[in-house]
Amino acid sequence: MAELRVDILTLFPETVGAVLHESILGRAVKKGILDIRCTQIRDYTDNRQCQVDDYPYGGGFGCVMMAQPLKSCLDAVVSDAGPRRRRVVYLSPQGAPFTQDTARRLQRDYDHLVLVCGHYEGVDERFIEACVDEEISLGDFVLTGGEIAAMAVTDAVCRLVPGVLSDPQCYIGESHWDGLLEYPQYTRPEVWEGREVPPVLLQGDHEKVSRWRRLMQFARTRSKRPDLFAAFLPKSDGDRELLRELEKSDRTARLTAPVTCRPAAEGDLAALLAIRDAGKRTLARYHVDQWQGEELSDAFLRDAVAEGKCFAVLHGDDIAAFFVLDTEPVPGYDAIRDGKWSEVPAYAALRALAVADAWRGSGLAGLVIRFAEGEARRLGVRCLRADTHRKNRPMLRLLRENGFRYRGNVEIPAEPGHDARRQAYEKLLKERRT
Ligand SMILES: C[S@@+](CC[C@H](N)C(=O)[O-])C[C@H]1O[C@@H](n2cnc3c(N)ncnc32)[C@H](O)[C@@H]1O
Repeated sequence: MAELRVDILTLFPETVGAVLHESILGRAVKKGILDIRCTQIRDYTDNRQCQVDDYPYGGGFGCVMMAQPLKSCLDAVVSDAGPRRRRVVYLSPQGAPFTQDTARRLQRDYDHLVLVCGHYEGVDERFIEACVDEEISLGDFVLTGGEIAAMAVTDAVCRLVPGVLSDPQCYIGESHWDGLLEYPQYTRPEVWEGREVPPVLLQGDHEKVSRWRRLMQFARTRSKRPDLFAAFLPKSDGDRELLRELEKSDRTARLTAPVTCRPAAEGDLAALLAIRDAGKRTLARYHVDQWQGEELSDAFLRDAVAEGKCFAVLHGDDIAAFFVLDTEPVPGYDAIRDGKWSEVPAYAALRALAVADAWRGSGLAGLVIRFAEGEARRLGVRCLRADTHRKNRPMLRLLRENGFRYRGNVEIPAEPGHDARRQAYEKLLKERRT
């Protein structure tokens, strides 16, 4: 007995059968591993005209396939196959979308699949209710018949049956096996039309090849199918390490020009305000009540520029970020609650830090912190303080990742209706060895 029997109930058995008896599946059928049969539904009508469809009750366009020929055809197939772990599937645009997981489940749990292909306007609902175990869709579009979907399901399930492919490794690690897409593949020649095969694949170091391939799986899933990448959960330390590597290489890849810092000039104001406005909108989108009032007003920024407290961070010639550094006491900082500041003779406050949208996630914000630390040292202070809203997660992460410590809670001046509460952070700058 074959490992898996697939019966396709269709109005076009020759067409479907011809496709499924070709190539890899055809060879597996010849070897007896698979038994793929296509049955003509029309042969099971109980009317003399061999009619399989009729007008829909209630009116409407087209015809609906009648339950009787479908049921009789199904009964015949079931009786021929005998008792098996069977699943009756109706291919339908209303079914659950077909995925690799569905294919794996059908291969694992059953050894007899009956795939029912509808046509015209579909099939009488009572047949589905009475006889169908599950409905599967090829996707959110409508085909004229279920045959193409049945062929797709048969192909995807059958290639997972042991012995159909030469080695299980052929499908393990393929796209969708563990929620990722497959790495890029290359074959001879080594150089084709000036395009080279990645050198790592030619060096014979299998460990390096596997590492590179896994990294490529992450990179291309993220770019081609961000939805899959977002749902992917790393299962091993190796995966976690590679994901960190990917993030790191992104950062350096995106920062393609030197990043520098200089005091902002009056002529920079428009660019600074545009960066501030984008930041303000992002905070509003995430319901973070920070910068939503007058906290970082035009006047505040203009004054900071005029007083030399505002610094522009440039990527090449473009202003990519700015920060405001102030050695004046910040209103509200002295009244810190739930903790206390370090006892230091002086501090510099990072009053504002904003990165242009295009550079978010590039690692530039970390460099901005480095520049702020440099400016603080230049001003002769060894303590940098900052505050941020408790919901401003990117800023909280940035501060923590860059060595700032939570010191307590402060309230900054805020207009009525705005949240004045902020979390206070501090970093003590180490003496530099000369
Ligand atoms: C024109 S469709 C009928 C569509 C039906 N009137 C509806 O709107 O749900 C005819 C047959 O094609 C098959 N079919 C159409 N789209 C499909 C899809 N996305 N996946 C699987 N089968 C599909 C089904 O077997 C269906 O009975």
